Amino acid sequence: MEEIEKAKIALRSTFDTLEDKKQVFKAPEMRALFDGMREIAPEDRAAYGKAVNDLKTEVKSWVADIEAADEVIESIDVTAPQAINAGSAPSFLPSAQGSQHPLTTEINYICDIFQRMGFVVEESREIDDDFHMFESLNFPEDHPARDDYDTFMTDEGLIAPAHTSTMQNRIIKKYTSNLDAGEPISAVVPDRVFRNEDLDATHEHTFYQIEGIYVSKAVNVGNLIATLESYMSEYFRQKLKTKLQPFYFPFTEPSFEFAIERPDVLKKDNSEEQKWLELGGCGMIHPNVMKSAGLDPEVYTGFAFGFGIERMVMMKYGIEDVRHFESANLKFLRQFR
Ligand code: DAH
Repeated sequence: MEEIEKAKIALRSTFDTLEDKKQVFKAPEMRALFDGMREIAPEDRAAYGKAVNDLKTEVKSWVADIEAADEVIESIDVTAPQAINAGSAPSFLPSAQGSQHPLTTEINYICDIFQRMGFVVEESREIDDDFHMFESLNFPEDHPARDDYDTFMTDEGLIAPAHTSTMQNRIIKKYTSNLDAGEPISAVVPDRVFRNEDLDATHEHTFYQIEGIYVSKAVNVGNLIATLESYMSEYFRQKLKTKLQPFYFPFTEPSFEFAIERPDVLKKDNSEEQKWLELGGCGMIHPNVMKSAGLDPEVYTGFAFGFGIERMVMMKYGIEDVRHFESANLKFLRQFR
């Protein structure tokens, strides 16, 4: 019966918000069902009555489930003696109603591709210092390129990293022993970065990047392109044309901007402008970056890249506004369940 199904959905959302779950039996939706009996034609009353009773039984089982769950979840007292957090366990929404955030799902998928290609996955930091943000990456002091990054800084000079390249120095140092063993250094770092941006459909102050670092002997631009092309066709599940165009980053030489051909379904028109979509930067790791991580650039060479993750996800699914990701808009988020 349609009205009962509707009432059930409404009841469930009321139920989920109730502190005292038993109050659900007094919810207006429940009363309306019983009151509704009067409007039902006499010959349908029996069936209606049964459906209402069945629903009531089901609602009882919701209450019983929550009560049982409350019994097993014991709160862990992690508080100081004041014990402000002690008390009853929080009531969680039923997990069947939840799902992973689409960015989490996509980041896991992206990492999975790189892991299959032999890259390890590392995390970045949410607070860093001048050395890792700039100095180790060959940004001379007072160099104007520092301004391109619209960096958030604390009065003490700590930095909310504006790119995942902050991890290049640490990754190279951490895995230097790979090189001694004749293995390459190959890592990706998907993590959050922060920029003092004006917000619009393609700019957020907090977003995700994935950094890639590969160091070995005799690495060249061809290796970089092949790696990026393999990754892209795996991620977008189709062969896409790619384009490198010269660019400037202090930490790579040569440096490029990397663009992919926009799939037809995502093109607004056939103009040249719509043809390519830039995903980020890449290049051959600058000798000074190698040196600051303790490697001899005469012996070792490598490539690095850094891409915006939201951009790739937006491309893949045709999402027009980056702000959807952080909007808590359930209509948007539920499409990815
Ligand atoms: N860190 C750069 C940015 O956020 C992107 C980038 C460019 C990363 C070149 C790299 C690279 O690793 O080689 O604008």
